[in-house]
Amino acid sequence: MGEVTRGNPFAPGDISATAILAAAGRMAESRRPDPLINDPLAEVFLTAAARRRLAPAVDDDIAHLLGDMFTLRSRFFDEQLLRFAEAGGRQCVILGSGLDSRTHRLDWPSRTTVFEIDRPGMLEFKEAVLAGSPNKPTCRRVVVPTDLTNDWTAPLIRGGFDPGEPTAWLAEGLLLYLTAEQGNQLLTTLTAHSASGSTLLVEHVNHAAQSAQEGRTVAKLVATLGEPWLSQLDEPTRWLARFGWTADTHDIRDLAATHNRPVPPFAGTDPSDDRRVWCLAAEQAAPPAPNAPGSASTATSPLTDPNQRRNILYADDLQVGTTIDLGQYTLTGADISTFAGQWDPQRLHTDCDVGATRPSDEMIASGIHTLAVFQRLAALRAYRDWSIIGCRSIRDIRFTNPIAAGATLRGTLRIAEATYSHPQHALIRLSGTLAHGETTVLTAEFDVYVHRMHASSM
Ligand SMILES: C[S@@+](CC[C@H](N)C(=O)[O-])C[C@H]1O[C@@H](n2cnc3c(N)ncnc32)[C@H](O)[C@@H]1O
Repeated sequence: MGEVTRGNPFAPGDISATAILAAAGRMAESRRPDPLINDPLAEVFLTAAARRRLAPAVDDDIAHLLGDMFTLRSRFFDEQLLRFAEAGGRQCVILGSGLDSRTHRLDWPSRTTVFEIDRPGMLEFKEAVLAGSPNKPTCRRVVVPTDLTNDWTAPLIRGGFDPGEPTAWLAEGLLLYLTAEQGNQLLTTLTAHSASGSTLLVEHVNHAAQSAQEGRTVAKLVATLGEPWLSQLDEPTRWLARFGWTADTHDIRDLAATHNRPVPPFAGTDPSDDRRVWCLAAEQAAPPAPNAPGSASTATSPLTDPNQRRNILYADDLQVGTTIDLGQYTLTGADISTFAGQWDPQRLHTDCDVGATRPSDEMIASGIHTLAVFQRLAALRAYRDWSIIGCRSIRDIRFTNPIAAGATLRGTLRIAEATYSHPQHALIRLSGTLAHGETTVLTAEFDVYVHRMHASSM
């Protein structure tokens, strides 16, 4: 391995050398006569990085070991993101975006917003370079400078991200640089912000690939650059299922075969080799259509069809007797322990072993968490479109059955009663239910003040 000339180790606020490495791979591909991706900005970034003496010197051996890896994964994720956007998806979030220039180089439908999240120092460099470039984004581009191991969703939402809309999430070249715990937390958080119909795109590397001789050489380089690999992924389907995602798994070797390119030596060229560089595309199950068996709604209306609901609804629009299907949410083990660790730290919710007192050794979700799941579904499928003033009371909360990890919870909300005792607002009584299959796990009554129609002109 040759010398690495970048002097300072990577630190928060610094510029990622591995992001520069990935851009170098895309630049090389763009210079080929038959490129699988075309990334003209990669060269612009590389030139700016070299001028600031930021570009890591990587010898030909390393470049050979990585081969077409950056190209193959970029092409795969390009196709997945465009498929999502062309099918009507309006928002994509690129986690650890580095010098990714998809906002500029892909042909997005004009309604698309792409959020880019990376550390502030990284995005500061990127923005400075882009400001001096004539290239313009082909979508609405929102930059969110923040650390993904902190609370990153608050700045994302402040940037205009809508958790009620389906999202395509991309974690390309990121999870290797997070610990397993940080990766699990990231999945828990993004899943909690994923509406039905969302897509999750992930790249990661298994243990065999990291521990083979080629893997150790690359690992040593990135560690020298201050960005050591901190995790691995051996069972992608199982891992994603824990968070409620169904994965379509690809390996970089399949992608190389698809595009008639040589397998990157890092990924193991022997067909019997168990090294894997995963490229994963996962989906969350969409809730059944409003009229499907088991659904509470019997007809579509602005109140019961989430696709129709876009205007604000007032108390006078809320018809007593209507039942609204709130969609569903799958609780993961990580969800249960993370929520309980923060808000209800009783051992029965945070520690599997305490479950020995129950028939199975599973952790069960906190009641407060169960109520929070109901609230999330109600907020995204109903309340956010209502002109709500505030909640007066929550009554008769009953936790009728325990909930373990993996349970898919469906919410329904019935408009039970409306009291119009004031010209400007009404008191609406709502009956909420959360069920796991046929088993009801939560019931509660809510009294909510809602503005009456055109209250402002009264
Ligand atoms: C290998 S680069 C990949 C960049 C880009 N996704 C690509 O494929 O070209 C890893 C990126 O993740 C970012 N990253 C790593 N840890 C992060 C964290 N905790 N918060 C935000 N970004 C992080 C780095 O700054 C860097 O830009």
